Amino acid sequence: MVLVQLSDPHIGATWAEGDAAARLAAVVDSVRSVVPKPDAVLVSGDLADHAVDDEYRQVADLLAPLAAPVYVVPGNHDDRAALRRHFALAGAEREPVLYTADLGPLRLVVLDSTRPGEDRGELDAVRLFWLEATLGAAPDTPTLIAMHHPPLVTGMPVWDSIGLPDADRMALGEIVAAHPQVRRIVGGHLHRTISAELGGRSVLAVPSTYVQARLDLQATEIELSSDPPGFVVHTVQDGALVSHVQPVG
Ligand SMILES: [Fe+2]
Repeated sequence: MVLVQLSDPHIGATWAEGDAAARLAAVVDSVRSVVPKPDAVLVSGDLADHAVDDEYRQVADLLAPLAAPVYVVPGNHDDRAALRRHFALAGAEREPVLYTADLGPLRLVVLDSTRPGEDRGELDAVRLFWLEATLGAAPDTPTLIAMHHPPLVTGMPVWDSIGLPDADRMALGEIVAAHPQVRRIVGGHLHRTISAELGGRSVLAVPSTYVQARLDLQATEIELSSDPPGFVVHTVQDGALVSHVQPVG
């Protein structure tokens, strides 16, 4: 089982140097050299910069060469209804976007962490209740939780101001601590590779396919860097989830 994760393509964005579509195309090209070919693709949010139909159409077209099912997660730049129009979200008819996918040795749980109209994240009681019930229904299958806002504190003030509220993060930590089948929680949003922990589980923020954030632990404004885009390859080896972060270019 090979699950490829792409994040934050921001199709339609012009706020960084370089073309967001060309960069996603280059990453997809690089993913196509992965052997064996991916069984599934996860896109962890901010697919489109302005959440318009043309941008989502372009994302779908750019991902088509991967010829694999695409599982999308809403980001703060996305629109839930538009995502539903352009991508199949099995079982996620209601707001927020909550669904699971059976990937053989791995169960993917998609957890919407957005708060429409705002950049910061949110996990309200409805979502936490759904997560608890969903994890309780399959306690023995290694599970990956995917959300846009990674449940971690970066220590970078500007990024922490648009992250998940502490109480929401801690509530999530209590749930995953009680469900040891959760192997990792992955997210995007931060446009950097960051590894952390929550509730005894590993947390991984993955790079953007568009542009990366600069490492500045005192950043009070978003600063961009010329670090390369990248993608992640998740596999299961001896029951353990292994995640390879691959820069592109
Ligand atoms: Fe983003």
